[in-house]
Amino acid sequence: MTKVIAVDGPSGAGKSSVSRIVGEKMGFLHVDSGALYRIITWQCLENGVDMESPDAICAFSETVAIECRPEGGRIAYYVGGEAPGERIRTPEINLNASKVAREKPVRDRVTALLRGMTQYGDLVVEGRDITTAVFPDSPARFYLTASAEARARRRQKEEVDKGIANQTTEAVKASLLARDEIDSTRKYAPLKKADGAVEIDSSDLSLDEVVGIVMDALPSEWKALS
Ligand code: DC
Repeated sequence: MTKVIAVDGPSGAGKSSVSRIVGEKMGFLHVDSGALYRIITWQCLENGVDMESPDAICAFSETVAIECRPEGGRIAYYVGGEAPGERIRTPEINLNASKVAREKPVRDRVTALLRGMTQYGDLVVEGRDITTAVFPDSPARFYLTASAEARARRRQKEEVDKGIANQTTEAVKASLLARDEIDSTRKYAPLKKADGAVEIDSSDLSLDEVVGIVMDALPSEWKALS
């Protein structure tokens, strides 16, 4: 049976870095589920979809063809043969992605895509509903969190380092908190800690320390095989 490590948590909690490294150590493919919601949001914006209309978002989202394939230790995504790259990481997409991610037809589609990825091998999947809705039966489920200040500092640095934006930490924090609110209060698959998931607060931990906690908590028979 395919093995899945599931990692949930709010924006900026360190899910991507931790999942990438754990994936490398275990030889599991890294899957960024948020990128799928971002791609659909990007395509909606590119095509002038009314972001205040759930019907328009749902109808348009069905037409977005996303190709998923294993590449360099992760599942890479392509739209019309092109990799979206940093175009899906802009403040405008941050602002609009929650409106797309709260729609059930969009979530059902992304969930089906994610479950289908087990055909490519063992996975480490990060997101908001991976431990609760997409792979709730995984024996390796984690809830990564950190204070709003720590998360905003990390995201702000990332935006500057990657040349995506140059917002203040305060602006990044406000945007993170607004998204957390929508993601954790929405009707379908809201962000919450799953019963039985291992919770890790990374506010005062280094990346290596968080990776160490995750590795220690994995089923021992998985580690013996890696
Ligand atoms: O992790 P991220 O910031 O790239 O996620 C982008 C958006 O998608 C954000 O609004 C949360 C949402 N999301 C979700 O609802 N479920 C997931 N499994 C992953 C992301």
